[in-house]
Amino acid sequence: MGKYACTVENGHVTGPRRDDPPAGFSELRSGYYTNRERGTVVKDQYHFPLENFITKERFDRIKAFAKDKETPCLIIDLDIIKKNYEDLRKNLPFAKIYYAVKANPDDAVVALLRDLGANFDVATRYELDQLLRLGISPDRMSFGNTIKKEKDIAYFYEKGVRLYVTDSITDLDKLSRAAPGSKVFFRLLTEGLGADWPLSKKFGSHPDLARQLIKTAVRFGLEPYGISFHPGSQQRDVGQWSTALTTVSQLFTWARDDLKVNLKMINMGGGFPANYIEPTDSLAQYADDIKRFLDNGFKNEWPEEIIIEPGRSMAGDSGVIVSEIINIAKKSVHERYPWVFLDIGKFGGLIETLDEAIKYPIYFEGEGPAVDVILAGPTCDSMDILYEKTTYMMPESARIGDRVYILTTGAYTQSYSSIYFNGFPPLTSYILK
Ligand SMILES: Cc1ncc(COP(=O)(O)O)c(C=O)c1O
Repeated sequence: MGKYACTVENGHVTGPRRDDPPAGFSELRSGYYTNRERGTVVKDQYHFPLENFITKERFDRIKAFAKDKETPCLIIDLDIIKKNYEDLRKNLPFAKIYYAVKANPDDAVVALLRDLGANFDVATRYELDQLLRLGISPDRMSFGNTIKKEKDIAYFYEKGVRLYVTDSITDLDKLSRAAPGSKVFFRLLTEGLGADWPLSKKFGSHPDLARQLIKTAVRFGLEPYGISFHPGSQQRDVGQWSTALTTVSQLFTWARDDLKVNLKMINMGGGFPANYIEPTDSLAQYADDIKRFLDNGFKNEWPEEIIIEPGRSMAGDSGVIVSEIINIAKKSVHERYPWVFLDIGKFGGLIETLDEAIKYPIYFEGEGPAVDVILAGPTCDSMDILYEKTTYMMPESARIGDRVYILTTGAYTQSYSSIYFNGFPPLTSYILK
């Protein structure tokens, strides 16, 4: 029946669009397939593969914990973050972890990773202040944002941070004044192809410019320390690391031979996946491939230090958003798909549904026939629609007031939620007890 029909049987469909019916099926209606070739109508039962995303035991604990809490809210399970940290350590034992704080800056998450021994990729002085308040020493931090004010660089320097990213001459100029003698690493442009949430264009420089930057850093009295890249977030194509690492190794060779500068570090950024609807390779597979790419580029002389900056892969799977159905309605008598309005949308923390890029697993309780729905948020902004093109299913029996569970929402949700749009407060986050 092909991928389309197969995923519908699991209670939801990903990838293919509503106007792209599966081969052999001439019409897709709410909860039904009409297969004209065989002349039969198959009623589809709602079935969501919960166990693909969370164990029944853990899910029951989260449900019970959230029972008397107002929705929407985010429940974070620290055990999952600990496990993700340990998995990253196990699979990439040669890499130093710099957690990308922006993914989930909750104090409890940061404190856990502090105690586990992580380092931190810090984006702003506000994150820096938070980390210092939590007793994290500045030698466990890098200022990983290419876009920074000189006075903020000075603030990082004053607090003791000595590792900085850069991707422009003007930024390097600021660094030379505000963070003299510091280690700098040079971020490369990447395409972000194959990523669900690409970060291309805005960050990094072309290798030609990176060469100029390395030369200039020497002239400015900074220490050219390494090369970084980010392959794009939720990167499904591990080949993107290969492409980037090839360029990195060429830059290492060039710096050594032409400039007599020994670069020491590679920062491979984030990009490792969380468990959303569309499956990815396992972390072990990513790790195996990346080791091979490092061998190809550096033979048995890998750089002294290899850094990764996981955000999504560290925190994503740890979170469940508990939401409620505000309304179920059609726009016209014969409309095919009912609109289901939840009490959380793009402005409440699900901004990564922009262009339907990140496809969260969404679990409705209930059984029986499935119905194909459009999901939208609660604000008075028409862009606050979660999924219109991607098919999501709910049981026909779902009712206004029912709870809905949005899985894999531990990263890039609470920290993205607006503070007051339409008067809605920011998303409340709880640590599972
Ligand atoms: C510099 C940097 N490093 C790491 C990350 C985390 O990436 P991911 O969430 O894909 O792991 C980001 C995300 O925006 C980033 O900007």
